[in-house]
Amino acid sequence: MRSKDLLVSSSISAIAVIAACAQPAVDQSTDRQELLEDIFVQIPNNLPIRNASGLAASFHSAGVIDLRSNYFTPQGTNGRECGTCHAPEDGWSITPQTVTLMFLLTGGTHPIFVNNLDTDTPTSDMSTVAARWHSTTMLRQGKFSRHVSPPAVRDYQITDVSDPFGVSTPASLWFFRRPLPTANLRSFTVMWDGANTVGTVLRDGAIKQARGNVTGAQQGTPAPDDIIFDIVDYEIAVSHAQLIGTGVGRLDSDGARGGPEAANAQPLVDARFDLYDAWEHSGNPRRRQIWRGQELFNNVNPPSGHTCRGCHSAANNGQNVSGAMFDVGTSRPELARPDMAVFTFQRTSDGAIVQSTDPGRGIRTGKFADLNRFKVPSLRGLAARAPYFHNGLAPTIEAVVQRYEATLGFVFTPQEEADLVAFLKAL
Ligand code: HEC
Ligand code: HEC
Repeated sequence: MRSKDLLVSSSISAIAVIAACAQPAVDQSTDRQELLEDIFVQIPNNLPIRNASGLAASFHSAGVIDLRSNYFTPQGTNGRECGTCHAPEDGWSITPQTVTLMFLLTGGTHPIFVNNLDTDTPTSDMSTVAARWHSTTMLRQGKFSRHVSPPAVRDYQITDVSDPFGVSTPASLWFFRRPLPTANLRSFTVMWDGANTVGTVLRDGAIKQARGNVTGAQQGTPAPDDIIFDIVDYEIAVSHAQLIGTGVGRLDSDGARGGPEAANAQPLVDARFDLYDAWEHSGNPRRRQIWRGQELFNNVNPPSGHTCRGCHSAANNGQNVSGAMFDVGTSRPELARPDMAVFTFQRTSDGAIVQSTDPGRGIRTGKFADLNRFKVPSLRGLAARAPYFHNGLAPTIEAVVQRYEATLGFVFTPQEEADLVAFLKAL
């Protein structure tokens, strides 16, 4: 169970310490014991957990984040649970810092490092602590391996693979991705490349995802349906968002509707973000700045003609209402780091070439036109889960905005950049 896990945030530990101190040394009464156990295994809704921009929190429609649920219980044999890689304290993704901490606390034997599943290569040496450290350079960047074969029917050939780890072949590509958060799920597109999308029904896609993950492909038979459905209903009911901004105060005060509770009630609709409408004339300059950032996000960027909300169209969430996927240049070969593979794709009809560090949607559909397209992720709770993009290319929210300027042609003044960043940090 998760109370025994190492992933305990500073806030939760603080509560535990207070609870432990409050317990008289001689009092072993069952009530006390139960109370203490509850404190260890439940995160109350809206419990603030620190990040670089303030404090974020989760909200579950059942009233608490229950760490005893099936979602936080290993279903198979390798010790991994959904919460191993989708942790509430890391915005339901997992940060490189947390993975590194888990390594340091266990010498690289925590289930996250198990069975060469996500090590640098499928046969990396995991025999000693030093070997395990050298074999987990991608995991310690918060990135997990994907091993994907292109479909038999496709309109391109893979003409070259250049893989620093020497694992990829044209028949089977090996690359690494960040865990998408399992909170604020609204769009029916599931996974960065849409691999587990089922029709247009989010729940069906999430069921496919849960069956194939730690409960299935990685460790034998999937868990029984009642457990799978329980996990899926649990994750769909979770929201996560920034709750308190440094120098800003509560993001759900004075008419604003930030924070995870309002996010939980937010339906999937194509409309502008309106969380901070009430702060247009706030007396606090930081609150006015967040409102200005919101408007920069909502409206056309005149120099480029582009709009953030054009793709991040789901109101106050940021996924795409139609489940559409886009290429924002994040897998371009010129941005490849030395530890990223580069693949070359050639269109059969006319010989056109595209290179990529991760083909995204196109590796699933077999369509040249889909190469490098990715799911439009939710933008809530961003501050808790750096780095950003499928491959962690942007270490900070500032770097995300700069990437949009460099790649999609958005043009912002330094003031506008700061305003947009302030807004994104308040999501
Ligand atoms: C070993 C780490 C790991 C574990 C354990 C894990 N996941 Fe994931 N999860 C990931 C990664 C990495 C991705 C993104 C992969 C991709 O898109 O190719 C992901 C993506 C997802 C998504 C897609 C979200 C979206 O916005 O499309 C869902 C849903 C999900 N996981 C649910 C689960 C559930 C439920 C469990 C437990 C049964 C689980 N995960 C266990 C690493 C993990
Ligand atoms: C053409 C569609 C499109 C436009 C326009 C767009 N985005 Fe995105 N956004 C995406 C896609 C697709 C991704 C995922 C890309 C990836 O990971 O490779 C993404 C990812 C992000 C992320 C990272 C989220 C995460 O969880 O890693 C942030 C933050 C973001 N966008 C903010 C913005 C802002 C701010 C703007 C306007 C300046 C903007 N986007 C404009 C499609 C778009």
